[in-house]
Amino acid sequence: MRPIRTGLIGCGKVGQIHAAALRSLPESEFVAACDRSLERAQSLGVAAYTDVPQMLRESGVEAVCLCTPHPLHAESAIAAAQAGVHVLIEKPMAANLADCDAMLAAAKASGITLGVVSQRRLFEPVLRMKAAIDAGKIGRPVLGTMIMLSWRDEAYYASDPWRGKWSTEGGGVLVNQSPHQLDILQWLMGPIEEISGAWGNLNHPYIDVEDTAVATIRFQSGGLGSIVTSLSQRPGIYTKVHIHGSNGASVGVQTDTGATFVAGMSGIAEPPLNDLWTIPGEEHLLTQWEAEDRARFREIDATHHYHRLQIQDFLQAIQQGRTPLVTGAEGRIVVQMFSAIYESSREHRAIRLH
Ligand SMILES: NC(=O)c1ccc[n+]([C@@H]2O[C@H](COP(=O)([O-])OP(=O)(O)OC[C@H]3O[C@@H](n4cnc5c(N)ncnc54)[C@H](O)[C@@H]3O)[C@@H](O)[C@H]2O)c1
Repeated sequence: MRPIRTGLIGCGKVGQIHAAALRSLPESEFVAACDRSLERAQSLGVAAYTDVPQMLRESGVEAVCLCTPHPLHAESAIAAAQAGVHVLIEKPMAANLADCDAMLAAAKASGITLGVVSQRRLFEPVLRMKAAIDAGKIGRPVLGTMIMLSWRDEAYYASDPWRGKWSTEGGGVLVNQSPHQLDILQWLMGPIEEISGAWGNLNHPYIDVEDTAVATIRFQSGGLGSIVTSLSQRPGIYTKVHIHGSNGASVGVQTDTGATFVAGMSGIAEPPLNDLWTIPGEEHLLTQWEAEDRARFREIDATHHYHRLQIQDFLQAIQQGRTPLVTGAEGRIVVQMFSAIYESSREHRAIRLH
């Protein structure tokens, strides 16, 4: 099958990871890059633009990766959809639900494929959890927990003017660092009925947004969940998602060790690992999987590898006329989750998701 003519919008930190994948994947012919900074766009060695509509009109791109700050995603995604160009949007899909709905409507009207990045879904330990749950090995998933104890310092927030402010980032740890695990939690636990939450800024006086949030979830299945997510532990401890089943068995992943990586500033230093597995008869697999996962980690560049896999899935979805691994509807659920926590904190009540 012939490669898809691809482009990149937003050539900053995570944009570099997308560019590397678009340049090397057999499904991609990387032809254009767009950034407000012409120099950044030009540095990628393809046709360079500073204006998204012009790139869509003139470059002949058929699919784009969208790597601008999230409050700006909707404008470029809608322009791409209206030009008939498929779009893979970096997480979070947007900073609010109105933007998600406008993007989904534009994609539906033009029939393009819209996907959202959530590359940690492709971590082998997460795929093992998904397979075990789908196979019914924990009965029904009835309790899900996500805990992120991470760290960001003042230099991180100073690195780009849009970080740490409600108007230009749309939120803090919930919006920027947590979408990966919020997505894994909803992917493994199923549809959410309602969320109660609260947030605070515990030790980052130089930012407006929250560095910490907690929440409880009631799932439509009757299952329960909890979220503790924070950037206030120096130097960062771990991030985990654990799922407990109706038959008493549990599966879990430590997605990140220490602080979560910062694209363009740091890389993934330790492999993601299953840290909990009590399915009867399978307990011994933990040690075997750890050895396998550590061996794989030595062979791949994990900071690039899982992005590359998801971008490849997206391009193959276009070629095969199927839905991508993470759809726009699922990207919207994550935005619903953090929006509900903000609303619940403001109104001191549980928020129903619909
Ligand atoms: N999946 C991941 O692991 C991951 C990691 C890092 C960032 N991200 C997400 O990627 C997005 C970008 O983050 P980043 O850290 O790369 O930010 P960044 O500030 O380093 O890069 C953003 C780039 O977009 C450009 N830009 C802004 N508005 C534009 C416009 N209208 N047209 C063209 N270019 C424009 C900026 O000039 C900049 O180069 C965010 O939504 C973030 O949450 C995801």
